[in-house]
Amino acid sequence: MLQAVERKIEQFIADLDDKEVSALYKQLPSGKRLRAKLILKIAGSELSVIKTAAIVEMIHAASLLHDDVIDDAYTRRAKPSLNALYGNKTSIMLGDILYAKGFFELGVISPEIATIISNAVIQLSLGELKDVSLSKAFSTNTAGYLEMIYQKTASLMEASAGAAALLAGKPKEDYMIYGKNLGLAFQMIDDLLDITADEATLGKPALHDFKEGKTTLPYIYLYEALCEEGQARLRSLHTKNLTGDEQLWIKAKMQEYGIIEKAYSQAKALVEEAIALMRFRNEEVLVGIALQMIERDF
Ligand code: FPP
Ligand code: MG
Repeated sequence: MLQAVERKIEQFIADLDDKEVSALYKQLPSGKRLRAKLILKIAGSELSVIKTAAIVEMIHAASLLHDDVIDDAYTRRAKPSLNALYGNKTSIMLGDILYAKGFFELGVISPEIATIISNAVIQLSLGELKDVSLSKAFSTNTAGYLEMIYQKTASLMEASAGAAALLAGKPKEDYMIYGKNLGLAFQMIDDLLDITADEATLGKPALHDFKEGKTTLPYIYLYEALCEEGQARLRSLHTKNLTGDEQLWIKAKMQEYGIIEKAYSQAKALVEEAIALMRFRNEEVLVGIALQMIERDF
């Protein structure tokens, strides 16, 4: 059914009747389509469901186009990002086009679906702004970090699951918690992989978040665990182009204090709550999607 979503996105792009946009869109990596998968697994394959999934993926793609400009990221999914290939202006405008077309189509579906998805887009924009602000200085604000990843990443997954439940006539609250917890865990694990995975697996330089100024959960926990001298050293490395020795020091300290396990267990607890909700509703496929998220190697 994911193929039907791909075809729908292609059709929405073709509607724009613009050769440059079609050619640019073809160069975007399609990604895991996690949000579309959730929508289809919750709501089936009626046309309004396929359209909602296509719209959400277009909005998500738009947000990543803008995010790569904001983050000065030159790779996305192990390929050169669109901003690396064609510059920031092209990326921003393609993002705007995907976003605007998504919203146009959202208006055609139903006011309820439009409200839930557009509210999430407000949240994700606020979250991205918070991410930028938090990255300006070394920050150990755990609550601020959790609110930021909720807005930046979990809000659109929460809304995707809620919209799908609405379309399927299922009670939306449990599905929204499921989507929200998966989104939070997804971002926490993404932040962990930035530390544990190598460049080839990540498709972007390792420890890139800290260089970008992002003090993600593992860095907050590490800071809390370190002695004063270590804390000063960690602060001094923030936003720096790290040498091999500095990278090794961060990784060794993370290991010494069990930081990866600590952050991972927090992500796991969120996924387990999501699984329990879906088990209760006999949504075994959704249980499986959640399990896949935590059964990854670090
Ligand atoms: C990736 O975070 C970024 C997001 C999930 C949200 C970005 C949101 C916006 C740019 C605002 C909304 C804009 C539109 C057009 C809808 P990350 O940098 O932590 O993850 P990454 O490693 O995948 O880059
Ligand atoms: Mg980014």
